[in-house]
Amino acid sequence: MSVFKIKTIGVMTSGGDAPGMNPCIRAVVRTGLANGLRVIGIEDGYDGLMRGAFRELGARDVGGILQRGGTVLRTARSDEFRKPRGQREAIRQINNANIDALVVIGGDGSLRGAQKLIEHGLPVVGVPGSIDNDIYGTDMCIGVDTALNTIVDAIDKIRDTASSHSRAFLVETMGRESGYLAVQAGIVTGAEMVLIPEVLTPVEEVAAMVEDAYRRGKTHCIIVAAEGFRPTTLSLGEQIDALDLGFTTRVTILGHIQRGGKPSAFDRMLASRFGTQAVEFLLAGKTGVMTGLNGREIAAVPIEEVIANKRTLPLEYIQMARTLAR
Ligand code: ADP
Ligand code: F6P
Repeated sequence: MSVFKIKTIGVMTSGGDAPGMNPCIRAVVRTGLANGLRVIGIEDGYDGLMRGAFRELGARDVGGILQRGGTVLRTARSDEFRKPRGQREAIRQINNANIDALVVIGGDGSLRGAQKLIEHGLPVVGVPGSIDNDIYGTDMCIGVDTALNTIVDAIDKIRDTASSHSRAFLVETMGRESGYLAVQAGIVTGAEMVLIPEVLTPVEEVAAMVEDAYRRGKTHCIIVAAEGFRPTTLSLGEQIDALDLGFTTRVTILGHIQRGGKPSAFDRMLASRFGTQAVEFLLAGKTGVMTGLNGREIAAVPIEEVIANKRTLPLEYIQMARTLAR
């Protein structure tokens, strides 16, 4: 890998926001400054990159953001950037601003976008930030822990109502095509069942479980369903409620509350480590890599490898969710 000289780095957040993006921005800025670099904040993800929405960041500009959810640089999903014309425009803006290298904090899509910039010759380090935990090459992404804690709080509360009314509840978690949040939440809230896109579960099986829970004298029945599971949670809720299974059924879609809120201690630490390491990778001449948590270590995982592979859900979680739900 050739070593390149960098004086100015850019930092941006892209795709869905995730709690912990702010501490990561802070770490990038302060590690950059500590190493004599200029740091430019890019607003609104790839949208801002294409229109040159840049502002220089000093140490004080990132003061007081460690504990805040969302991202102070804001974020976006940009269709324009998917086109070669948008990518060329972004490179032009980067060159005009004399930005030598970029740190992109975002999900799987954002890393695909980063790969396009790398192919244009720009040094880039990616940082995995997404509540979905669906990115290959890292044990955890920024935001997952906080989102899980939000889900757990919500399900604990729903259980109070479910028990008081003897109801079945279908609770939908986010995660796109990944069942990670649902299965983890199911285990730590003691849900009766978890429905995830990775495991085909017929409606009859869900109905039989609900009926069985009622027969065994349970006062509630909590089913955690990932948004990627089919049939959709709403349709499944209607089908289950129409059957005479003992419990009446309600559906709660947790939605975007899962993306907000102050980052947990775990996410602040992970984000601080990733942000620091991202700059250190660039200083060491590493480009085209993502900071990936591998056990206790942070590895430089080639972005090409990250986007070419799908992260799979450990089978042991699925099994554990089943065994512990008896
Ligand atoms: P996330 O990063 O959270 O997965 P998205 O999938 O929406 O969120 O991706 C964020 C942005 O990254 C997209 O809006 C788009 O601008 C850019 N992007 C995603 N995939 C590609 C791609 N294949 N080529 C170029 N840009 C992409
Ligand atoms: O990737 C994060 C995520 O919250 C997914 O879990 C969800 O499918 C999607 O983003 C929702 O996107 P939007 O906020 O654009 O509706």
